[in-house]
Amino acid sequence: MKPFAFAPLIVLLWGSFAHALDAEQRHSQSLLEQMCSRCHAVGPTGGSPNKLAPPFRHLGENKLYDPDFVQRLQDGYSSIHRSMPTFRFDRESAEAVASYLKAIQTKKH
Ligand code: HEC
Repeated sequence: MKPFAFAPLIVLLWGSFAHALDAEQRHSQSLLEQMCSRCHAVGPTGGSPNKLAPPFRHLGENKLYDPDFVQRLQDGYSSIHRSMPTFRFDRESAEAVASYLKAIQTKKH
């Protein structure tokens, strides 16, 4: 085997590592689009299809920076609201989802 056969692969992995956060956040967005967009506005604009469901960009920092938030995403985020289904994320996805949600927060107007 040629010793440098893997060099391009390493460069590739290093490159994607450097941009991991953005790629992760994009991945989380499409995950949330699939799972939550029936009710919530997932992206940085637009209203929620379900008027009772807060747009994700308005969840607020208190909630998102609560150390339990990532844990709750993993345990099955069950809201007090009955119409909201329970779902679970693995640890990696939960962290990526929280990171995405933090990234899109805007002030309510
Ligand atoms: C069937 C509709 C529906 C779906 C699907 C849904 N939600 Fe909700 N969600 C709601 C409603 C309605 C509320 C507001 C009432 C409440 O607080 O329970 C809410 C509130 C929330 C809140 C804030 C309230 C709290 O309990 O902290 C978060 C965070 C949230 N949803 C996350 C999600 C995520 C993440 C997904 C997708 C994985 C999702 N929701 C999918 C209907 C939905």
